[in-house]
Amino acid sequence: MDVFEAVDSRIACRWFLDKPVDATIVRDLIVRAARAASGGNLQSWQVYALTGAPLAELKRQVAAHIDGRDPRHDEAEYPIYPQTMWQPYKSRRDEHGVQLYGALGVARDDAAGRLAQYKRNFEFFNAPVALFIAIDRKLGPGQWADLGGYIAALMYLARGYGLDTCPQESWARMHRIVGAFVDMPPEQMLFCAVAIGYGDHAHPANGFRSPRAPLDAFCRFFGFE
Ligand SMILES: Cc1cc2nc3c(=O)[nH]c(=O)nc-3n(C[C@H](O)[C@H](O)[C@H](O)COP(=O)(O)O)c2cc1C
Repeated sequence: MDVFEAVDSRIACRWFLDKPVDATIVRDLIVRAARAASGGNLQSWQVYALTGAPLAELKRQVAAHIDGRDPRHDEAEYPIYPQTMWQPYKSRRDEHGVQLYGALGVARDDAAGRLAQYKRNFEFFNAPVALFIAIDRKLGPGQWADLGGYIAALMYLARGYGLDTCPQESWARMHRIVGAFVDMPPEQMLFCAVAIGYGDHAHPANGFRSPRAPLDAFCRFFGFE
């Protein structure tokens, strides 16, 4: 797979096959993704990788925590989104919801169905491997951006192995449980998780392609004509 196909074929995969990922591949992805650029080469990413029994135990703990509750009320340590959304972001997020829940056959007014889908984040959508991405809490926006570069590199490299991924900021809401579980030092803050596995491409959650704004909505060219 070339780099163009890797970029084009990546999706936020929201259901994975019951198929393990070779541990050497996981290690290789984590190492290779660290070739990502970072300002001043600070390499601000901190990664915790889980599979097998530890992953099952963490999922069990989180399932007990969210049982009968709405995890969207759990606060992350950073604002995942601004409190109110404005255009064009509001429409884009709404459209994303329409696509995802539409594909799953969850009606707009089906609050229980939406909550059930949200809770699948905390099963890692059945993925056999989960990464947590953390950062030193004293670092700033520049270094947070570098985390994005690391995660992007990891997701495209995963495509090279035929793997799928889902970046998951929802996991930031579980920072207390995750932090205690992986013994995260107090100076670090949880940014997000990344689910890794072989995607179930027949599953309706993976059955749509997210749209993108047209070029002129986000880029202005100077001197190209
Ligand atoms: C940092 C980050 C966090 C995300 N968190 C979640 C999440 O918690 N749950 C989820 O289902 N999707 C999550 N997504 C996936 C986005 O919704 C998805 O990337 C977007 O809708 C575009 O779709 P695509 O990735 O399939 O192209 C996240 C994406 C990013 C980059």
